[in-house]
Amino acid sequence: LHAAVVLPAGGSGERLGGSTPKQFCTVLGRPLISHTLQAFERAGWIKDIVVVVAPENIDLMKTIVNKYGHKRVTLVEGGVTRHRSILNGLKAFLEDRSADSAIDKPEVVIIHDAVRPFVEEDILLQVALSAREYGAAGAVRPLVSTVIASSSDGCLDYSLERAKHRASEMPQAFLFDIIYQAYLKCTDYDLEFGTECLHLALEYSNTKAKLLEGPPDLWKVTYKRDLYAAESIIKERLS
Ligand code: CTP
Ligand code: MG
Repeated sequence: LHAAVVLPAGGSGERLGGSTPKQFCTVLGRPLISHTLQAFERAGWIKDIVVVVAPENIDLMKTIVNKYGHKRVTLVEGGVTRHRSILNGLKAFLEDRSADSAIDKPEVVIIHDAVRPFVEEDILLQVALSAREYGAAGAVRPLVSTVIASSSDGCLDYSLERAKHRASEMPQAFLFDIIYQAYLKCTDYDLEFGTECLHLALEYSNTKAKLLEGPPDLWKVTYKRDLYAAESIIKERLS
């Protein structure tokens, strides 16, 4: 299995606030993204890790990679939306690079957010193998809240049956050509506002997308309280 990772880390963390984007916030002595990279280091079968960061944070990320000795990492400049950052990450596998930073196009590409540090090897392997079988695969979790839709007057229109729906989490994995073609074919609207990579693959590359029930700790650091929760979980895992 030739697998590689694209790790989007090009956001500014508006919902969390503060001057440092959340992926660079210190959690128990190291930046959040460094905890996520550690999780990938435990999965030795993953060949390359393309980390996508905003141009102004490339130097900071280089420092982090050197300081914490992260291996297999290639840095790429991000775009204005998450989808554009992921597309830049995918393109990196197709570019001619100097021999010392050569990365080959993988059979399967795993996409995972830099701000989900608790990913485990087991779910990474499950999504990668399912992507090989189905074309695309992603981790899901039961919904915590019920999803409801409002009508134009701001009142309840309908609600979804909670037990029948799932929250889409990360990691997701794809046959490289399937997700790359989907990104090339999708619209600017998708690149600006679309949030679901699995859906892009389904719509533009006509693949199946296998859903896999993942472990509870795949959640994303989004708000400030999540940084405290992340710290507690990391402490618990270390003890
Ligand atoms: N991301 C990215 N490029 C962007 C926007 C987001 O690579 N232009 C990355 C983030 O860095 C993060 C992941 O996509 O690792 C998930 O996005 P999200 O949680 O929305 O992060 P932010 O966009 O940084 O946060 P916010 O939406 O609160 O501003
Ligand atoms: Mg965002």
